[in-house]
Amino acid sequence: MIQRFHYTELTSTNDYAKELIKHLPLIAVSADSQTNGRGRNNRTWEGEAHKNLFLSIAINHKNYPTYKYPSRYQALGCLVVYNALVKYISKDGIKLKYPNDIYIFDRQYKKVSGILIEHSIQGKVAENTIIGVGLNINQDSFSDELSFKASSLKKIGLSVTIEDIYNDILLEFENLFTKSEDYIYDLWVEKLNILNKSITLLSDNKSYLVKGINPDCSLTISDAQNNIKRIDNGVSIIYEL
Ligand code: BTN
Repeated sequence: MIQRFHYTELTSTNDYAKELIKHLPLIAVSADSQTNGRGRNNRTWEGEAHKNLFLSIAINHKNYPTYKYPSRYQALGCLVVYNALVKYISKDGIKLKYPNDIYIFDRQYKKVSGILIEHSIQGKVAENTIIGVGLNINQDSFSDELSFKASSLKKIGLSVTIEDIYNDILLEFENLFTKSEDYIYDLWVEKLNILNKSITLLSDNKSYLVKGINPDCSLTISDAQNNIKRIDNGVSIIYEL
């Protein structure tokens, strides 16, 4: 059973969860606002207070064995949010984007949620896993820079409370957490639907074809000259969802 903790303000729910989980088996830490919300690749995660979900689910591996491939927690995080949202949004209206984002259709596909997976490592062993979820719910406007790429549930006409979505997400987590990691991985591969698609790497602005999805969630891609490379969740890519 997941233990819930809620705060008015935290620097980052991931940071706080990382401390609390040292002494507890399985927790959910949420906050009305974050002062130092973090995203992947050292980016910041912004969101208006009281309008969005800032949540971290933390797993203590003294109590729950770690996945053989820890990178698969990103698949778990994405599917938890995806499954919670498909209750409200049609399948065409919501997509997973590699590696761990959720997009919704708001005139074009725009990001509604991002997942940040972190592990506390001791030696080579992951002691804890933190699944951080940022989800835009009732925010009605975004900065000029973000407005063409970010959206919220409210912006597509959904009227839901943060509490409802929070409860849906924890229910989905409790369901998917009982499944094997291979089941999670297979479902993620199916929903991701990226195989054979053309992608552009932001780092070199070149196009590649996705040749395979590897067991550790990295992608095998090839360029026009058939040069093969592997990319993982540290790499930013653009492609048609
Ligand atoms: C990303 O898209 O780069 C991931 C964003 C993850 C944001 C969430 S909000 C709750 C948790 N606390 C953080 O500081 N980050 C994650």
